[in-house]
Amino acid sequence: MLRDELDELKRKFINELKQISDSEALEALRIKYMGKKGLVTLLLKGMGDLPPEERPAAGQAVNGLKEELAALLDNEERRIKAAERQRRLEAETIDVTMPGKRPVIGKRHPLSIVRRQIEDIFIGMGFEIADGPEVEYDYYNFEALNIPKDHPSRDLQDTFYITDNIVLRTQTSPVQIRVMESHKPPIRIIAPGRVYRSDEVDATHSPIFHQMEGLVVDHGITMGDLKGVLDVFAKALYGEDTRTKFRPHYFPFTEPSAEVDVTCAWCHGQGCRICGYSGWIEVLGAGMVHPNVLRTVGINPDEYSGFAFGLGLDRLTMLKYGIDDMRLLFENDYRFLKQF
Ligand code: PHE
Repeated sequence: MLRDELDELKRKFINELKQISDSEALEALRIKYMGKKGLVTLLLKGMGDLPPEERPAAGQAVNGLKEELAALLDNEERRIKAAERQRRLEAETIDVTMPGKRPVIGKRHPLSIVRRQIEDIFIGMGFEIADGPEVEYDYYNFEALNIPKDHPSRDLQDTFYITDNIVLRTQTSPVQIRVMESHKPPIRIIAPGRVYRSDEVDATHSPIFHQMEGLVVDHGITMGDLKGVLDVFAKALYGEDTRTKFRPHYFPFTEPSAEVDVTCAWCHGQGCRICGYSGWIEVLGAGMVHPNVLRTVGINPDEYSGFAFGLGLDRLTMLKYGIDDMRLLFENDYRFLKQF
């Protein structure tokens, strides 16, 4: 009678065990039979209802079954664990022959590439890099550069006024003043940076653009030094066959002043679309530092002289890469930027 019951229970157990393929279900089955309220446990507890003389044999039989089922469960558990481990290993296999994913690391902006290149050229000639604020006092941007309030050349550099006395700088030349105020000659600096003018945006104009100022002040500096330095610069940037040409010009803070052209980097002076078929491209303004400017910062013009220049970085960059529209430099379209 008990024998039959045990056999039946075992059959049922084995049937259920066969259905199982993961350890969670196996654990549920273990609890169903062997847990505190499990079917086998209940049987053991039921022993107490039997007549005393039947209890030892019955107890032995139930315990036997219990051990048998426990062994089956352990076996199955080992099998399932091994299978699960195998599945995990297969899922995590790395196929080293798969093509990798290239990380997107971006590119340096063409303006930054050319700026750094020019910095290197001047550092090679013994210049240091100086810096000044983009939000600047009228005094540094105009007054101290020999451009008083009523000076007509202010019209050419109309800018954005923060207050009557504070402007967005229209040029990097105010850095000249700041450096001369805080340093004694010999001075040899370049000062790259952003400048502002209230220009309409088109292919060659932008209200924000970039310049690089240069300033040298020492005993006996001449226009010959200026020509030599700019010639070395132009050749280093655009190649040994590059020539420079000085045209007389006017700047309030230099005397004499010049605009400087370089032979077109595209046609090497032959004449092409980029240079308007002239063979030359204007890239900077320059001159000998005006005695009034030296006096303003307390440097004696009878003892010292100097030259200054201001490069148009956007122009130089466009020329170097054949970029025909300045707006491309400011739109930051990655399809454009990634070409450099
Ligand atoms: N600051 C002048 C400009 O923006 C360029 C310049 C710099 C000219 C230094 C002479 C000397 O046009």
